[in-house]
Parts: sequence; C-alpha cells; structure tokens
Amino acid sequence: MIAVAVPDREGGVALALHRVSKSFDGRKVLDDARFAVRWGEVHALLGENGAGKSTIMNVATGVYIADTGVTEIDGVATRIASPIEASRHGIGMVHQHFRLVNRFTVAENILLAAGPEAGIRNLDQAARLVAAKGSEVGLGIDPAARVCDLSVAERQRVEILKVLILGARIVILDEPTAVLSDQEATSLLRFTRGLADTGHAVVLITHKLREVVGHSDRVTVMRGGRTVLADCPTTGLDEAELARQMIGERVAPLRHLEAHPGAPRLVVRDLTVARADGGKGVDGLSLELRGGEILGIAGVGGNGQQQLADCLIGLATASRGEIQLMGRPVVAASVAARRGGGLRMIPSDRFASGLIGDMSVAENLAMTHLAGRYSRWKGFLARGRMRRDARAAITTFNIAGATPERRARLLSGGNAQKLLLSREVDSELTVLVAHSPTRGLDVKACQFVHGAIQDSVAAGAACLLISDDLEEILSLSTRIAVMSRGRLVGEFPAREATAEKLGLLMMNHA
Ligand SMILES: Nc1ncnc2c1ncn2[C@@H]1O[C@H](COP(=O)(O)OP(=O)(O)OP(=O)(O)O)[C@@H](O)[C@H]1O
Ligand SMILES: [Mg+2]
Repeated sequence: MIAVAVPDREGGVALALHRVSKSFDGRKVLDDARFAVRWGEVHALLGENGAGKSTIMNVATGVYIADTGVTEIDGVATRIASPIEASRHGIGMVHQHFRLVNRFTVAENILLAAGPEAGIRNLDQAARLVAAKGSEVGLGIDPAARVCDLSVAERQRVEILKVLILGARIVILDEPTAVLSDQEATSLLRFTRGLADTGHAVVLITHKLREVVGHSDRVTVMRGGRTVLADCPTTGLDEAELARQMIGERVAPLRHLEAHPGAPRLVVRDLTVARADGGKGVDGLSLELRGGEILGIAGVGGNGQQQLADCLIGLATASRGEIQLMGRPVVAASVAARRGGGLRMIPSDRFASGLIGDMSVAENLAMTHLAGRYSRWKGFLARGRMRRDARAAITTFNIAGATPERRARLLSGGNAQKLLLSREVDSELTVLVAHSPTRGLDVKACQFVHGAIQDSVAAGAACLLISDDLEEILSLSTRIAVMSRGRLVGEFPAREATAEKLGLLMMNHA
C-alpha cells in the first residue's frame, strides 16, 4: 500500500491551487481561480451549477491539466498530471458520478483502481483491506458484494473506502449528499468530521447551505469560474449570506401556490409493483391527483418511490391495481401512449432515464418528438428545425454552457436539469411526475425548477412531487402524504404540515 506520512503541521495548508485557468473549446471555465484547504478541517466548496467546482478539483487530482496555475501540497509546488500521481501525493476524490464497475465485486473494484504500483497483490488482500479500513473508519461493507446489488449510499462507501485505502489524506467529496436521504447525509457529514479530526483535509462540495453552515469549518465560494470568497471561516455566516455570495444577489423566497383543485387527472388504485430483486416496492397504494395541485410524497428513499415513479411512467409493470390518466385506464399502456395523454416525467437520475449524455442538446430535446414534429420524408429528420427549436429552448430556459450541437454530458448538473425540464414542461403537459427534481441543483436553479413546476400547475397541470427532501416537499406542495413501505401512510393539506409531523410519520412507519 502507498504510505503517506501523517503531517505534523496540523492546521497548515494541505492543498493550495493558485491562479488556475482552464478553457474548454475556447471557453474559459476557470478564470484565475484559487482554493486552499488545511489539515484537520472540513472545507466547503460552494457555487452555482457550472461555477467550476468539479473542474478545479479535477485539476487538483490530475484529471484535467490547467492552462495556467500552480498546485501546492504542503507548501511545495507540485505537478500533478494524472489521478495516479494525485493518489501518490495522498489526494483522493469521490466523483459526482461514481466510477465503479457494476458487475464487479467491491474487492475487485478496489484491486482494479489500485493499479500495479499500489502494492495490493490479489483479491484476498483487497478484501482484507476493505474489511479493515471499513471497520477502522466505520464504513462497513461486504467486500464480496457485487456493486450492482448495492444501494447508492453503499456504493458511495465503496468509493470513499477506495480513496482511503489508496492512502488519501486529502479527501475531496464532490456533492456526496446529493444522492443521499436526509439520514444518510447526516451520517456522512458526521463521518467527514471524523476524517478531519484524524488529521485529514476534507473538501466538501455541496449545494445545501445548511450543510455548509452546520458541518464545515471554512468555505470557499466560486462564481463563473472565479473564486469570489476564499477561505472564509464558517462561524458567523448564515444561509442567506452564503446564497448572496453564491449568486451575487438576494434569493427571493418561493411564492406559495394556492391549490385550485380541478378534475382528477391521475387516479391510482391498489397499485402493487415489485422491485427488481422480487421484493415489494409499491404495496397496494392508492391516490388521486387533480389539476391545479401539487401532491408532495415525502419519505425516506427506498420505500417504493422509485417503483411508483417507474410504474406511473410505464417503465415498470404493475402486478396489481389500476392507473387512470385523464379518465383512461393506462396501467397496461406503453410509455408513448402515456406521453400522448400528456404524462411527463422528471426522473431522479437525469442521465439514467431522462437524457442521453452522448447525444447532442438538440437531439435530446427532439427525442420525444421524432415521430411527429421532426420527421420528414423517408425517415429523414428535420435537423434545421431541431437546431432552431434547441436554440430557442436554450434561451428561454437560460441553459448555460449549451449549444444545439454540444453533448448533453458536458453540461453541469443544473443545466442538464434545465434541458430536461424544457423538454418535459411543454404545452401538452397534463400530469408531471417529478422525482427529486432539484437533486444536486444550486439555489438559483432550484428556484427555476420550482418556479417552472408552479407555473405549469397554476396553468392547470397536476404534479406528483416525490422527494426525500422535506424542505422541498414543504415549500412546494399543496397537499402532502408520506410514503412508507410502499404505501401512503398519512395525508394532509400542506398548510397543516410541519417537518416534525412528517418526520414522526416517517419514523413511526419505518
Ligand atoms: N470536458 C469538458 N468539456 C467542455 N466543457 C466542460 C467540460 N467539463 C466541464 N465543462 C464546462 O465547465 C463549466 C463548469 O463545469 P463544472 O462541472 O466544473 O461545474 P460545477 O460547479 O461542478 O457545477 P455543478 O454544481 O452543476 O456540478 C460548465 O459550464 C461545464 O459545461
Ligand atoms: Mg460539479
């Protein structure tokens, strides 16, 4: 294993980046940016979607080479030209999108990542290291488990163990809590504190201002590729001030939408949907959703929310029950037929089931209309029209970094979500199923998404909002229910709901 000396300069600067600039395709993404983290601290890195947070950390870990700038480790200028070199210098990063081989076991993934020079010789040794490191830092995981059978939180444990086993003392976590439920996030944040207390330098990229205020020692804020607040102690900062630093203006609070329920648009009766592993996902669930209302479904992730969303949109089959869309039974209908009835979806994982990363922005926008608006004689596509529509959508939804030709994968998280939203919230929308629609989005992008949902509901659409973010549920819904073990266990008008009441319902039925 790689040995990295534990620094005795507790509190000294562990990693510093000075005057870093980086352009992609002639566009400056980092512009004279800087960043520094000390030993023994949790340092929050904050900024809007597309601000350059992932990019600057990718420079620190040798994924990208900066055009100009200096990286220092322990005060010594160091050239880091690859992730392997970063690892050699004790820097490890857990990326926003995990980099594990799903068909491999945990131990196999560790062995694969280690490479020949890390000194991990075989699977047995890798498995022993996983077990030992796991119990040392309190992140137990079965080394023989296949990654595809693990939950998101467990996969993240594997990623964290991977960087620790490879000897990281500077640990960078890129939006680790975006994929976690509130409880999982709390335990991860406690874990990062433990890492800092044992002398590591921890960089925590996050959009959740309460995490910054509650769990970091210092904060750096980036905006438009520049560092606008560097190395500022968190004590004394509040969420409003951080938001202002981030976007350079005050954030207006969300207006409250009054419900004007119209006719039922989506009716679900006694719905049962199995999980992929055969267990029960949705278990005899019923609900009624009317035009002009947002029904928020709160609950700890993993209680059947995914199966419910998948089944409504037509990606999972119900073993029992019925679904009516605009008065028509659709439980056996195709995805296309349901879309024809105006059903739209914002999935929780935008690149797994919403967008195709390797296709262009224009193609992603046109994807749902290939048989209609964009089809031409003999199966040709109306490319010019696709490009024009894409340009209009980019302007209307203010999708930063997008051109019709650019691959969707190159957009930052928030801008990818805007792209999806601009396709789904169209004039034919009748029912919108929004599953964690603001996961990983910054304050301003959240506001945009929430505003777009409210606007379409005010215009008569119905929205089913499934989210494990209680704040989102409370601020956006007009009616709220709690989902637990595949059923809805409580329901009340939003004005009667409080976080305590919902939390209690979630716990009592867990
Ligand atoms: N390989 C690349 N090629 C072209 N553009 C890129 C590439 N990587 C990043 N970008 C662009 O650089 C900008 C900064 O992206 P980055 O991923 O660093 O943002 P971020 O602050 O991490 O945002 P988010 O909070 O959404 O993750 C974005 O506009 C993005 O589209
Ligand atoms: Mg990022």
